[in-house]
Amino acid sequence: MSNDKQTENSTWSGRFSEPVSERVKRYTASIPFDWRLAPFDIQGSLAHAKMLHKAGILSQDDLAAIQRGLAEIRGEIEAGRFTWSLDLEDVHMNIERALTERVGDAGKRLHTGRSRNDQVATDVRLYLRDAIDHILVLLHQAQTALLDLAEQHAGTVMPGFTHLQVAMPVTFGHHMLAYFEMLKRDAERLADCRRRVNRLPLGAAALAGTTFPIDREFVAQELGFEAVCENSLDAVSDRDFAIEFLAAGALLMTHISRFSEELVLWMTPRFGFIDLADRFCTGSSIMPQKKNPDVPELMRGKTGRMNGHLVALLTLMKGQPLAYNKDNQEDKEPLFDAADTLIDTLALLAEMVPGIKVKPEAMRQAAAEGFATATDLADYLVKKGLPFREAHEAVARAVRAAEAKGCDLAELGLAELQAFSNLITDDVFAVLTLEGSLAARDHIGGTAPAQVKAAIARARAKLV
Ligand code: ARG
Repeated sequence: MSNDKQTENSTWSGRFSEPVSERVKRYTASIPFDWRLAPFDIQGSLAHAKMLHKAGILSQDDLAAIQRGLAEIRGEIEAGRFTWSLDLEDVHMNIERALTERVGDAGKRLHTGRSRNDQVATDVRLYLRDAIDHILVLLHQAQTALLDLAEQHAGTVMPGFTHLQVAMPVTFGHHMLAYFEMLKRDAERLADCRRRVNRLPLGAAALAGTTFPIDREFVAQELGFEAVCENSLDAVSDRDFAIEFLAAGALLMTHISRFSEELVLWMTPRFGFIDLADRFCTGSSIMPQKKNPDVPELMRGKTGRMNGHLVALLTLMKGQPLAYNKDNQEDKEPLFDAADTLIDTLALLAEMVPGIKVKPEAMRQAAAEGFATATDLADYLVKKGLPFREAHEAVARAVRAAEAKGCDLAELGLAELQAFSNLITDDVFAVLTLEGSLAARDHIGGTAPAQVKAAIARARAKLV
């Protein structure tokens, strides 16, 4: 950051008898972070200038000069040759000053009928729309990776858990599809949020609109916005669209944190259900044997900062009187960090999922040890006419006997099982196997391998 351009901000300093103190300058400037809005600021300015010309407010020559100047500035910024000045406070005034230095009075006319209040609201919306589009592409990649893994393991049995205790057999593919569904809703939420991000604030000017005969619909069309913000006060002051994005992002990270937690757990030798490719793990500086799942741990951890950003913006907006207040300048850092975090996390997730090495034998062994088919036995008795509550009781006693004997239900002999209910015959063993249990849950949303494959096919057809 260079301070050499000037010592006071001549954009508005005419009103003041002394320059702001250095400390105030540093405290109020947003350029250390809002420079990231530059491409969107230029995009917005180009649309605004075109509209001013179309409305007869800006001459053809001035428009041409502005277009040329902004193109040069964009090139300089992209090449990293542009010097940002703290004295010029923010991205808007830095670019406007550079434009005026290049093209003279035409640059000074660009701000006609516009204020930084509607300008910054427009920039943030353009930035966020772009970020959401990027995030949706990566989310799609992560979803595809989950479907691929689910497909490879549509019939791989594992214990399903409730309370982290073995509950019923499920397939690993079914388990992966649960996360696919979560991400699908996250994508829907982001796409829905995008519709409300995609509205044009420009034309609201500082807060009340402008005396110039502007054409807001034209600007909206130029910038690809779906519609204009209907109320000028609302257009410059609310950041609810950003809060919605953060809420959707926090939920998305929450889902990823649950998946991460399971990967971490499954990778411990106590579970031994999976291994994670070495490139997603790190070692320990002291314990030579260690292979730590740092990537999923960090994904889990970064959920905290997303939740923080959501609360930060909600708190920023709470109780703000209409219309624009400088408080809103604080929206940017949480928003930028949230988008960066989502983009990095999703890109890595899409890469990491194919690097999950599944260990079917360990999963099968765990499912066979936890009386996972006890409910199947109860259902079997119900189908033979026993009321469910009695069936539950009979099986509970059978589980106790098996536990005392140190074996699974399927390992009890027929005579032993018949001691708990005389309805049991030798067809019982078909329902006590893991495969039998899986295959029996044969309806939409169930874990039968055939259903898992059908669910994957439906998901792929919708995902395209
Ligand atoms: N840097 C400011 C922001 O991010 C731009 C708008 C400033 N407007 C104003 N009236 N001071 O919100």
